[in-house]
Amino acid sequence: MEILESIDALKKALVPIRRRGETLALVPTMGHLHEGHLQLVRTARQWADRVIVSLYVNPFQFGPAEDFSSYPRTPEADAAALRRENVDGLFLPATEELYPRPPEAMTFVEVPVLSETLCGSFRPGHFRGVATVVLKLFHLVEPDVAVFGEKDFQQLVVIKRLVEDLHLPIQIVGVPTVREADGLARSSRNSYLSPIERPLAGALFAALNEAASALERGLIAGDEIASKGQKVLESKGFEVDYFAIRRLDDLGTPGPLERRLVILVAARLGRTRLIDNLIVQRD
Ligand code: PAJ
Repeated sequence: MEILESIDALKKALVPIRRRGETLALVPTMGHLHEGHLQLVRTARQWADRVIVSLYVNPFQFGPAEDFSSYPRTPEADAAALRRENVDGLFLPATEELYPRPPEAMTFVEVPVLSETLCGSFRPGHFRGVATVVLKLFHLVEPDVAVFGEKDFQQLVVIKRLVEDLHLPIQIVGVPTVREADGLARSSRNSYLSPIERPLAGALFAALNEAASALERGLIAGDEIASKGQKVLESKGFEVDYFAIRRLDDLGTPGPLERRLVILVAARLGRTRLIDNLIVQRD
């Protein structure tokens, strides 16, 4: 596995891949890799001849009061895990190169509406930061395929829209969420959970399942199901940012007959903000 610490090194590594006519998949990450990330890498391998993983903790997707400086950074363990997965290149861009201008002079890209709802309303600017760094990575790596997790469902929808609206010749592949035994979605941020909080965290997935089966039974309205889910989580000590039922494709408010739905939740347990979701297809 080649470690690519500059744009120049990345470009040099891409030349022989392209010369041989091989296809290329990109898996963008912020590191502290776990089974969820590795599942993305394995999926990427099925879609392309070569796989590049990027690892960059992007400051512009963190709010001023968020965890940018404490975000877990484990580059050596990450590189070892990616080597075991036979990744071809690990791109570790430097902030000076990725963002050569002071913040007030930077070019950003925005995906409106989709970026303002759900997590976007609690984390202003977050999806602008995500869309901008992902667009930069796409232009630098020029992959045929890019792989993202359904765990961050809104992010996946934002990126699909970015690709569509800017006519990028990149196929976006989504990967189902990888979970712990109790259903907790794997996340780099799970390491913030205390030993007391960790056993409580499985309640998030349980509440999603509860809501999904209520939706499938179709006896009560979506709003009622969502507020019940929120109350259950609050009774277990979560501070809930949102518990929402939305259209699968564009995260809009669903009509009563909508069949393709996603239930999304964001809630804090102590200082840890957890997000999760569950897709529900009614027939
Ligand atoms: P990060 O949180 O490191 O996640 C990298 C990728 O791994 C994302 O596509 C995310 O959805 C996926 N992922 C995380 N946990 C997962 C799980 N349990 N199952 C399946 N996939 C999972 O998301 C980001 O980084 C950043 O916003 C990024 C896209 C890299 C832009 O900075």
